[in-house]
Amino acid sequence: MGEIDVVEHAYVLCEDGRVSATGRMRELPSIAADVQELDGRGLAAIPGLVDCHTHACFGADRVEEFSLRAAGASYEELHAAGGGILSTVRATRQAGEDGLREAVRRHHGWMLRAGTTTFESKSGYGLDRDTELASLRSIAREGGVPTFLGAHAVPPEHGDADAYVDFLVADVLPEAARIAEAADVFLERDAFDQGQARRYLQAAREHGLVLRLHADQFTESGGIELAIELGARSVDHLEATGERGVQTLAASDVVAVCLPASALFLARPMPPARTLVDSGAALALATDFNPGSAFCESLPIVCSLACTQLKLSPGEALSACTVNAAHVLGRADRKGRVAPGWDADLVLLDAPDWRYVAYHLGGDHIAAVVQAGRRAWQR
Ligand code: NIG
Ligand code: FE
Repeated sequence: MGEIDVVEHAYVLCEDGRVSATGRMRELPSIAADVQELDGRGLAAIPGLVDCHTHACFGADRVEEFSLRAAGASYEELHAAGGGILSTVRATRQAGEDGLREAVRRHHGWMLRAGTTTFESKSGYGLDRDTELASLRSIAREGGVPTFLGAHAVPPEHGDADAYVDFLVADVLPEAARIAEAADVFLERDAFDQGQARRYLQAAREHGLVLRLHADQFTESGGIELAIELGARSVDHLEATGERGVQTLAASDVVAVCLPASALFLARPMPPARTLVDSGAALALATDFNPGSAFCESLPIVCSLACTQLKLSPGEALSACTVNAAHVLGRADRKGRVAPGWDADLVLLDAPDWRYVAYHLGGDHIAAVVQAGRRAWQR
């Protein structure tokens, strides 16, 4: 996982949106066709980053809550008092589909400038049929990979979590499954328990969706076992996962998605990424970009945290937010590598060494972003 092939003085030749060849500049044959050149001298190219876990579709912000937390209030207390996720639900319902699409476009722009060329985004701030579907459409139309997170919180108009899951399965899932590629659930005290999550995910699987879970963020609630039982693609967060959970997950094909920016933002313990990797688990990294627990769209910052807080090597960090993240999104054959046949998504770093992506904490080091062979952004 930590082994990165580095080519000095390299070229990357792109054709029809894909990489057609790579190698050393002095071995580049002369090309008869019209070639548009992007001069990378003095720069370092890495694969376009893949953010496999974000919540980019929401109205308003939570800057007020951020200030309250700075003054000592806890994230869980604010959530239990009807703030937190539910305050974003109110703003998201009021935004309208055009407003949501505009929000996703703005957030997508931030991600792109941070080097993300492929992003997933969950719904989950609508929690009613119309707003959940509008969220999924907005994400898809702005180029994101949509995940249905109807089971994010229980909205006030539903008496309890069981009744809400009934509603989701009967009234929202059939339509949501036409737009989304995956379904996700927040398995946690004060959100959904293992039985409710199972029922929701089983129904999602019957509609052909890939399964993912938010689990072990605050408490160990059986999310890992459920993920394995149902053949889920990933289990995300894991800040509260203990040794047994690590070993169980490591013995499975379920990917552990760690979100160190979220742990940092909430001043929570970091997930056990080092032991997961050492025990043989497949690990991906993502931002968890959202207004409440991780207002951070930068995978380079996540790579930095991975090295300083999770004790991963720069190579492991890069693999975790490129190839491994692409696998979480079912795109490992097209995204996350700079190799012939793969999509021509690249980031050019204004740095003498590719490891600056993690080393330069919060640095302004993204010189250009290439997406499907085209310059999508340049500093
Ligand atoms: O992944 N934990 C649940 N969901 C999001 C946070 C959502 C929010 O605070 O708005 C997360 O951290
Ligand atoms: Fe999340």
